[in-house]
Amino acid sequence: MSERTILKLQLPTDPLWVKNVVESNIEEILTDHAFCEQKAASNAITLIVQNPNLSDLVQEMTALVQEEIDHFKRVHDIILERGYILGRERKDNYVNELRKFIIVGGGRSEQLIDRLLFSAMIEARSCERFKVMSEHIDDKQLSEFYHELMVSEATHYSMFIRLAKKYADGIDVDTRWKEFLEYEARVIQNYGKSETIHG
Ligand SMILES: [Fe+2]
Ligand SMILES: [Fe+2]
Repeated sequence: MSERTILKLQLPTDPLWVKNVVESNIEEILTDHAFCEQKAASNAITLIVQNPNLSDLVQEMTALVQEEIDHFKRVHDIILERGYILGRERKDNYVNELRKFIIVGGGRSEQLIDRLLFSAMIEARSCERFKVMSEHIDDKQLSEFYHELMVSEATHYSMFIRLAKKYADGIDVDTRWKEFLEYEARVIQNYGKSETIHG
């Protein structure tokens, strides 16, 4: 089954992005990637702070923080191994554009569901990017590393969708997810050109 079928993403990343952009900018990619992992951990912490009463969510987010910060460490280890030093955080324009789709106002449940679907969306696209990188990058260590991360991001995507359904509270999660997918497809059209994970 292709990643597109599993994740329902509407636009696949062109492997030429790996060949033309990623391979010649490994240091940039690793720095940006490290901060993607940090942001995933920070997002999980925010979800805990905003929803302390949702015990299942708190448990899942606690495990996620640990896993994402472990990913951060592993990227950082590779950065050091290669003689680089972690750069400053790069702006993630893709994520900032996606964030605009989160409902403003609305009830608590609507906001929670949107934040969970927003998180699922980033996991899904990161998973797809890691897959394309693992399949096309001419670097054995990174190819294996990105394959492994692709698998764990797919698990995170499923977990966020499951939580959205659990806490749906009458919201039609499938319909809202379709809206997210359509919006993401419009956003991602402008990416796939620069030396960041979602660039
Ligand atoms: Fe991760
Ligand atoms: Fe993740």
